[in-house]
Amino acid sequence: MSASRLPVVRDVAGLRAAVAAWRGGGQSLALVPTMGALHEGHLSLVRAAKARASRVVASLFVNPKQFAPHEDFERYPRDEASDAALLAGAGCDLLYAPGRAAMYPDGFATNVIVSNVSTPLEGEFRPHFFGGVATVVAKLLLQCLPDCALFGEKDYQQLLVIKRLARDLDVPVEIVGRPTVREADGLAMSSRNFYLTADERRIAAQLNVIMRESIAAIRAGSTIADTEQSGKQRLAAAGFAIVDYFAVRDADTLAETVDLSRPARLLAAAWLGKTRLIDNMAV
Ligand code: PAJ
Repeated sequence: MSASRLPVVRDVAGLRAAVAAWRGGGQSLALVPTMGALHEGHLSLVRAAKARASRVVASLFVNPKQFAPHEDFERYPRDEASDAALLAGAGCDLLYAPGRAAMYPDGFATNVIVSNVSTPLEGEFRPHFFGGVATVVAKLLLQCLPDCALFGEKDYQQLLVIKRLARDLDVPVEIVGRPTVREADGLAMSSRNFYLTADERRIAAQLNVIMRESIAAIRAGSTIADTEQSGKQRLAAAGFAIVDYFAVRDADTLAETVDLSRPARLLAAAWLGKTRLIDNMAV
């Protein structure tokens, strides 16, 4: 399919009509939700979706509900034409790009709140964030009703929140997590990396280095508390002005843990200038 011919729908009626036609023909369907400014991380989800289902819908909606007033909603990078071309190249069949009024019409009053797993880490530093994510993802899943929806482990806590949401609300969609795609120097790909200056971009690679070395230290017997403390110090020394968190947590609940016989995850969030980077890895 030529890039320019990726079909676009902008409201629920258009989406449901396309989905109904495919369902009538017995085809399976996968959804890849995004906020655009697409990179290889997003495209890896589209390719994995295509391997699982005969049709792939990608959504593009910069969701105002998941940004606080002081955050980067206004300057978040937006380029729908280039995103559509990338999606078509990766095997996407339909772009769902609703406007704000289609998603949140006047009178919209429902918020989806997922307790527990939303509370620590990102929930502490961006208290509005998971309510906005859960609300928009619940809507996207119900609007499209795909067989599966794919999300990146890059946003590990978000993936856990969405899995919990789908289970708790009996949404009949399989939630699939996919590995983080990285730049050659290990930096996790992110639309927000576009904000980094050349100097910041060089420093950004240290996040991955310090995380990998911290995991190696834990495996070699260093305690979680010592590893967290030295990780924060090393990030500060590398030039990260603020470290929101650098924490080893239970991989399923994100509760604090000292028990390394259970799966654990190292999660970090730190600032370079005006840009906030997050990353995580299995311990
Ligand atoms: P966005 O940041 O655009 O990311 C869309 C999807 O791509 C998410 O599932 C995210 O985890 C995944 N992703 C981002 N960077 C990745 C990388 N380097 N490797 C693998 N996957 C990556 O996350 C959101 O949008 C929004 O919160 C959304 C779920 C769309 C709700 O608005």
